[in-house]
Amino acid sequence: MGIKPLLPGPLGFGTAPLGNMFRAIPEEEAAATVAAAWDQGIRYFDTAPFYGAGLSEIRLGEALAGRPRDAYVLSTKVGRVIHDDVEDPAARELGEKGGLFEHGRPNRMTDDYTADATLRSVEDSLKRLGTDRLDIVWVHDIAQDFHGDQWLARYETARTGAFRVLQKLRDEGVIKAWGLGVNKVEPIELTLDLDEPRPDAFLLAGRYTLLDHDRALQRLLPAAAEQGVDMVVGGPYSSGVLAGGRHFEYQEAPQAILDKVDRIKALAERHGVSIKAAALQFALAHPATAAVVPGATRPSRIAEDVAALHEQVPAAFWADLRAEGLISPFAPVPTV
Ligand SMILES: NC(=O)c1ccc[n+]([C@@H]2O[C@H](COP(=O)([O-])OP(=O)(O)OC[C@H]3O[C@@H](n4cnc5c(N)ncnc54)[C@H](OP(=O)(O)O)[C@@H]3O)[C@@H](O)[C@H]2O)c1
Repeated sequence: MGIKPLLPGPLGFGTAPLGNMFRAIPEEEAAATVAAAWDQGIRYFDTAPFYGAGLSEIRLGEALAGRPRDAYVLSTKVGRVIHDDVEDPAARELGEKGGLFEHGRPNRMTDDYTADATLRSVEDSLKRLGTDRLDIVWVHDIAQDFHGDQWLARYETARTGAFRVLQKLRDEGVIKAWGLGVNKVEPIELTLDLDEPRPDAFLLAGRYTLLDHDRALQRLLPAAAEQGVDMVVGGPYSSGVLAGGRHFEYQEAPQAILDKVDRIKALAERHGVSIKAAALQFALAHPATAAVVPGATRPSRIAEDVAALHEQVPAAFWADLRAEGLISPFAPVPTV
């Protein structure tokens, strides 16, 4: 149980943006970004079939080709199958996250959390990644943001399909760990309450950030810590807005969010703290967090992320964040 011993360190690299999440990224830029992550010592990479309908997996696989497979940890996801025929990527029905990956590959994508689709998805990912094994597999986006009120019915399909298959693959040693990769706390809370099957970890995106953490702190993180199930924190910059980007929740950030970010930034500047250090170190301060996986499409971002991890952040900064009500009084903060 747990994945801390499996992970090479607290900082991974999330490759969702390399699936042309917001813009068409030149191949060289995508390759250079993965190379920068490797050169800076990052050895955990997260991807998914969904990220550009296979584009992120293909790019990551090409960029890692020739690297010793034992030297890095790879996670990808199941729940969406990529087909050979095409569709209009801009017309895909993606719930709250419409328009995402419209610059990605045009391959038709279907949601499918059944056992057969899980096995097929794993096989397809291995081919796209050009590798013979996956370390961690997350069941992707089995939540309301993508499935609306159908999400519970689809969760039940996943519980009796994808979950059981992945647990079997883990028990047979084919993969090392499995869990859910979601933007919502509810499916994780539900899964932590199950007797069977038992995941090793979860990838929780956007719900344990400086901007949004109250709900995760209530039940999910204490329960995960108690059960020894680790959390990988995805989207630590809330999809960009915290780090200087324009997006929040994968859409244009609303004014209220921009205002809150400005307040956090002003406080960080007063203490000489970079906003990235605040974001990454906040996510890692919770004892349930095993790693954080920021995403990027430009090589220069990686050096910022690595520097942010090692930056000395004064205790007074965290105290002031609390005092100004910008973070929950219950959120653990790093000890200097
Ligand atoms: N359901 C799931 O399982 C799930 C959901 C979401 C995320 N995740 C995982 O978590 C990873 C991280 O999430 P994310 O990539 O969505 O969001 P994120 O890490 O919160 O933010 C990434 C964005 O921040 C921007 N950024 C970084 N440094 C910047 C700077 N100095 N100035 C301006 N913008 C900057 C990047 O822009 P550039 O592109 O310009 O570099 C990138 O688009 C994903 O890649 C994925 O692996 C998983």
